[in-house]
Amino acid sequence: MLKLYAMFLSLVFLAELVAGISGFVFRHEIKDTFLRTYTEAIQNYNGNDEKSRAVDDVQQSLSCCGVQNYTNWNTSPYFNEHGIPPSCCMNSSDCNSMDLRNMTIAPTKINQKGCYDLVTSFMETNMGIIAGVAFGIAFSQLIGMLLACCLSRFITANQYEMV
Ligand SMILES: *[C@@H]1O[C@H](CO)[C@@H](O)[C@H](O)[C@H]1NC(C)=O
Ligand SMILES: *[C@@H]1O[C@H](CO)[C@@H](O)[C@H](O)[C@H]1NC(C)=O
Repeated sequence: MLKLYAMFLSLVFLAELVAGISGFVFRHEIKDTFLRTYTEAIQNYNGNDEKSRAVDDVQQSLSCCGVQNYTNWNTSPYFNEHGIPPSCCMNSSDCNSMDLRNMTIAPTKINQKGCYDLVTSFMETNMGIIAGVAFGIAFSQLIGMLLACCLSRFITANQYEMV
């Protein structure tokens, strides 16, 4: 019984270790991918295609602008022609295309936070929940397996006793 308990504990420890390491690698991978994709999407932004609309969606729904902040837009081809995209505006009814071109006015009318920090912190918050649920399921399966194994042993042992 003590042996079984020790085995159980080391299994739990192993499961935690694997979950911890893969979670870390996974998070790093997602953040890295987001950073690269978003930076690329800003450089290729044209305000029309699917990727541009995805950028607009993120900026509008999270009230953010650019990767680290709005200055990430300064190097994009879109900025040279149109200025900061309207999806960065704090208040869409008080944000015209002239304002978005003028870098004295624009910074006062657009979201100051960059999207990278917001997206990654949102992810971190929810990754904890996702990882917790996944671990909970794995853990209860493990307990189920152990119970099944011990129960069948117990029954087998008692059958011999009965005979
Ligand atoms: C947005 O700007 C309009 C026009 O200046 C103003 O009337 C409105 O109150 C602003 N809305 C918010 C939420 O600040
Ligand atoms: C930007 O706006 C300020 C304030 O209205 C104005 O003085 C300046 O000339 C504008 N700059 C450009 C490049 O239009």
